[in-house]
Order: sequence, then structure tokens, then C-alpha cells
Amino acid sequence: MSTVTLKSHREHRVTAPSLACRKRRGEPISMLTAYDFTFSRIFDSAGVDVLLVGDSLGNVVQGQDTTLPVTLDEIVYHTRLVSRAASRALVVADMPFGTYQISEEEAVRNAVRCIKEGGAHAVKLEGGTGMASTIERIVRAEIPVMGHVGLTPQAVHRMGGHRVQGRSENGARRVVEDALAVQEAGAFAVVLEGVPEDLARAVTAEIAIPTIGIGAGVHCDGQVLVMHDMLGLSDWTPSFVKAYANLGAQAAQAARAYVDEVTHRKFPDEEHSYR
Ligand code: KIV
Repeated sequence: MSTVTLKSHREHRVTAPSLACRKRRGEPISMLTAYDFTFSRIFDSAGVDVLLVGDSLGNVVQGQDTTLPVTLDEIVYHTRLVSRAASRALVVADMPFGTYQISEEEAVRNAVRCIKEGGAHAVKLEGGTGMASTIERIVRAEIPVMGHVGLTPQAVHRMGGHRVQGRSENGARRVVEDALAVQEAGAFAVVLEGVPEDLARAVTAEIAIPTIGIGAGVHCDGQVLVMHDMLGLSDWTPSFVKAYANLGAQAAQAARAYVDEVTHRKFPDEEHSYR
């Protein structure tokens, strides 16, 4: 590979440290989930800054009720597909439930797999003060970590459902403490999920690393959505989601048209046959 190629590649890639500069410059960060090569390529060339291989794949790809059953092998596999297509975006692998809570050593080993086998540039894990030493340990292994506080779906059973966090005074204090702990531990950014917008604004002002909001209002340093939700592929979405397309209805219409043409021997026609 020539030096010129290497140089231009480096200039264009979004990196973990570059996101802090974006915050300082007041430039919002865009992040979407992606789980395969095709959508990774589309989102990457559309200029999405960060592609998250979220454990939400448990819901939108596997059809599970929660993210809890997702395995590390599955995240590594999907991360490999996404990183193969992403030439500009930062690729973040979401560490599944049970892969970083048991011991710090295991957390590092599993984070290493996301980088080495998945081709991710960083990992994300859920939790604040309770996960600070684990984040620190992974960062010490030279792996950039994105935190995730507020509504943390892997804690669905503790929270008693997917509930907005930080509405009470104590709850709000906990979210601030969690975000500060994640920053202190060396995370390069933090997802703020399902918190009131005033709290998200306060956290964003309080910490130096970028906040990436989902259901957290407009005052975060960036935004993330699950791709199936924003493309109109999900049956149900929370009220904070905006659908930018209606691909579910379009796909259904295309499938119906195909079934009709096959049934009536209209497809393949002359144009679509070999001679
Ligand atoms: O798994 C996921 O998609 C996530 C985002 C919702 C932030 O964690």
C-alpha cells in the first residue's frame, strides 16, 4: 500500500479522539446502528459519522424481546460485515450482556475480540459508576470505549421495563454521576438514552466528552437512532423516533408486485431472460 493511500485514508476516517474536537467546535455527531455490509456502505457514503453494531440486533434482526440473549460471537460476526464496508465512519461494537460484567479480565478479552476479529475501532458498554473500573481497564488495553448511561436496555429487569431515567432528583443525580464516572474512566464519548432533555443538556454542559443522545432531546452533542426505526422498518417505535423513510411499506409493496407477476407469468419477461 502506498504512503499516499495511507495518508488520505487517515485524513478521512472519523476517529475516537476526533469526536472530542467535534464537541469543542460545536459540530453535531451523527450515529446510526448498522448490522450488515449493505447498510454500512449506504450509511458510510451518506456521511454518517459513527456506525454502531448495537446489541439492538437482538430486537430488530433476531426478533427477540430484549437484547439480553445476544452473544459475543453474533456481535463479532455483524461487526465484521459492517467494518468491511465502512471506509470513513468510526465502527463501534456493542458489548453484549454478560461479556463485561463478570470480570475485568474477561471484559478486556472480549473487547479485544471485537477489535481483532470484528474490525471495530471502539467498543461500547452500558453502565456508569459500577462499570468505571472496567472501562478504565479496557482503555488501558488501548481500546477506545464509548459509555452508555441513563436508560440502559441490558438493565431492563432492574429498571422494570424500558423506562425513562433521571426524572426524580436522585435519579437525575445518578445519571450525572454515571456520566462523570464514565468520563473519568477514560471513555471518549457517552450515549445518553431515555432521559429528560433538560438533564441531557446539563450533562452535556458538565462533561468534556461528547454525549450522543437517543430519546434525550436536541441538546446532546450528537444523536443515534436504530436504523430499522429511522427507515420505517419497525412495527412499533417509541415516540422520540423520527422515520425518515417508509421502507417497510415499500418492501411489502415490491414483494406483492413480485408475487403477482410470478403468479401471472409476467416475470421474467423478454427483457429479463437470457437468449
Ligand atoms: O444497541 C443499540 O442499538 C444501542 C443504541 C440504541 C444506542 O445501544
